[in-house]
Amino acid sequence: MKHLLSIKDLSKKEILDLINLGIKIKKNPKKYHKALYEKVLLTFFQMPSLRTELSFDAAMFKMGGEIIDYHSETSPWSKGKETIEDVAKVISRYCDCVMVRMQDHKEFLKLAKNSTIPVINGLTSFEHPVQILGDLMTIKEKKRKLKGIKISYIGDSNNNVTHSLMFACQKLGIKMSVGCPKKKDFSPDKEVAKYCKKVKIINNPKEAVKDSDVIYTDSWMSYRIPKSQHKKRIKILKSYQVNKEVMKSAKKDAIFMHCLPALRGEEVTKEVIDGKQSVVFDQAENRLHIEKAVLLKLLKNI
Ligand code: NVA
Repeated sequence: MKHLLSIKDLSKKEILDLINLGIKIKKNPKKYHKALYEKVLLTFFQMPSLRTELSFDAAMFKMGGEIIDYHSETSPWSKGKETIEDVAKVISRYCDCVMVRMQDHKEFLKLAKNSTIPVINGLTSFEHPVQILGDLMTIKEKKRKLKGIKISYIGDSNNNVTHSLMFACQKLGIKMSVGCPKKKDFSPDKEVAKYCKKVKIINNPKEAVKDSDVIYTDSWMSYRIPKSQHKKRIKILKSYQVNKEVMKSAKKDAIFMHCLPALRGEEVTKEVIDGKQSVVFDQAENRLHIEKAVLLKLLKNI
């Protein structure tokens, strides 16, 4: 594994190894407390972040490494004065690894192509691989297995989290259904849907969650979506809200997942996200452990 750009690039074994390493690190974090001594991670943000920024910072500090936090709004690149290729070549001379949050996935891939250090996708508008690796770890902890489970994702599905989850389910042979409106702007990317042949796309949310062990949703207002679209999107997506009724159509012991940030009353009711079946803060915590695993794999080949 040279970079972590997309779940699609990983083999089934690589995904399972990362999850198992994350679980191992969580159980015994002390063992790794000097593992990244003198290593420098650059975190490069074009968009806001809470979990990704803080969990990567904490992961590096807790393994003896250092971070340089760079918000791109002050960079010559964001002012159109420098190419992303040159940015990649320069940062490769200073740091050992770079984690990037960038809107445009193609621009992100250009950065990766020109970088001589490992590059981690910390979210683009197309994928969010570190989130999904952490989520698989959470599912494994809660359900004690990944084999034989069913995951349903409900809501806005033209979405980075949906795409990464679909790739992961396709790779691991996990049953998955996506419940979303029958509209291009709310459905998974065509190429992703084509690749993830085993994932079912269903327009009725209750039907989609039937027999599910995991119900997953994400914000209807992802970072890439302008505020002006808020009202229109709520109208289209409102029947895809995860509420008590939707939860009832899944298995009794189903868990509710959300990558956060969440808007209570929109994609999920308060009752569900703050209820007993919700594991959203365990998901947030596991970002730390899985990112330690990703960093160790890329920087130490552990
Ligand atoms: N789909 C969301 C994920 C946030 C972690 C977004 O892109 O804003």
